[in-house]
Amino acid sequence: MTRDDTDDRFETDGTALASDGGTAAGEDEVALDPWGSATISDYRKLFEEFGIEEFDDVLPDVPNPHYLMRRGVIFGHRDYRRVAEAMQAGEPFAALSGFMPTGDPHIGHKLVFDELIWHQRQGGDTYGLIADLEAHSARGLSWEEIDEHARDYLLSLLALDFDAEDGTLYRQSENRDLQDLSFELGSKANFSEFQSIYGFDGETNVSHVQSVVTQMADILYPQFDEPKPTVIPVGPDQDPHVRLARDLAVRMRYFGVTRAYASFEADETELSHVAAAYEARTEYAEDPETPRCEEAADWLAESVDTGVSAVETAISKLENAGMEPLRPRVRFLDRNATEAAFEALIEAIDGEKRVFEEHIDTFDLSREEAEELAREVEMETGGYGFVMPSSIYHRFMTGLTGGKMSSSVPASHISLLDDPEDGYEKVKAATTGGRETAELQRELGGRADECPVYELYAYLLSGDDDEFAKKVYDECVGGERLCGDCKEQAARLMEEFLEEHQEKREEAEELLEELDIQLKSSRR
Ligand code: TRP
Ligand code: SF4
Repeated sequence: MTRDDTDDRFETDGTALASDGGTAAGEDEVALDPWGSATISDYRKLFEEFGIEEFDDVLPDVPNPHYLMRRGVIFGHRDYRRVAEAMQAGEPFAALSGFMPTGDPHIGHKLVFDELIWHQRQGGDTYGLIADLEAHSARGLSWEEIDEHARDYLLSLLALDFDAEDGTLYRQSENRDLQDLSFELGSKANFSEFQSIYGFDGETNVSHVQSVVTQMADILYPQFDEPKPTVIPVGPDQDPHVRLARDLAVRMRYFGVTRAYASFEADETELSHVAAAYEARTEYAEDPETPRCEEAADWLAESVDTGVSAVETAISKLENAGMEPLRPRVRFLDRNATEAAFEALIEAIDGEKRVFEEHIDTFDLSREEAEELAREVEMETGGYGFVMPSSIYHRFMTGLTGGKMSSSVPASHISLLDDPEDGYEKVKAATTGGRETAELQRELGGRADECPVYELYAYLLSGDDDEFAKKVYDECVGGERLCGDCKEQAARLMEEFLEEHQEKREEAEELLEELDIQLKSSRR
């Protein structure tokens, strides 16, 4: 059987096991919409247009990487290095993800369950949450329906070995601290921002807006008691949420720390020019002990290729500062500090310092020392000291019927609750990357990169066994493997997986009852 190549399917090639890393551009539009359909036509654009970083770049820093990382299923991240470093150093870190209880948990959710559980094994403080407020407000589900699905998500998470004693499970609707945090965060965001990030408009219901703020609180919740690097494993459709949460983490801070050379503020590129001028001070300063800003401006104008706008603005800032001495310093900015916090910071700074209305310049601290001090004082004086949260992104699985995997099309996905025989049948009926005839397949090889069945092997059925996944791949593209047998093998493995998973779910029932999580919403 061959797959029919519909236009709306997204590209699935480029896993680490695939031979070529290229991705044919499908549709031109790449929109990341948390409530739209999860379709990505070109993963490369996520790097270029959205600034998501490539996972392969941090992979070497990750201790014992998970197979989803090794195989390129986890393809992107924001700031994950922070988390990897904490992991390496045995320092505290956290992982959190959330599940909207709108239907059955399926094999796509299993990726996230596995990612959470892996981080838990690595020593992370791990959180799984049921996004019931979001399901209610953004999808309109009743509390009865939500309770039923919530239970199913929790059972599967436990069945896959989430350690509920060590980790934290909660429902948004029952977590008072979360809702308080959400209220605080809401005061740092405004509606026009939501319009531009999410396309909200006058018709958007207010609870939906509130559920976004709740998700912001979810993302920062692992740092409720103490700041720590935190990773949010999600699909790339959730990236707008991650970016906003990163912004809010900064906006909530009492203090910011920057470098400066004089009274004016400058961005990173401007600073690099000013720094160069400072380094060259003996070349131009009348008194090299005290180079003046205007002298530096003249030097920059002569020695650097002007026309670059950052140089131009650096020069004019230096000119405006005139006779002010140029002198490197680390600056604390007052973002949201209470008066008491600002006073406490002044007290806490050793060495030479200059206090201004809204900032303090210090001359004997390194930037790292200053960051640490700012966080310490902030925590002592009632702030959170949030570290910007990190994220990792996994590829979406292709639907078994081609096109996208959709929870509303049962044949396109395998639910973790599917009868094992149905799971078997769905795999048997899946489209493949095979050729029209067995003869052609032997001659040309199959197209594993475009095959949903191969994805099942790579994402799930091979488990930790890279060699097996590679063997399937090589045999397929080498023409030794034919789709009939290949699907039979995959179907059997899927059947076994579902049988085992469902047994474990039954065993987990008891555990679930003992957990400190409301199974029946108090809002019913
Ligand atoms: N919005 C997510 C979804 O649609 C669910 C979610 C809620 C979430 N809070 C979260 C995901 C925090 C990650 C982190 O599936
Ligand atoms: Fe897909 Fe297997 Fe056929 Fe290759 S042999 S195209 S992996 S079903």
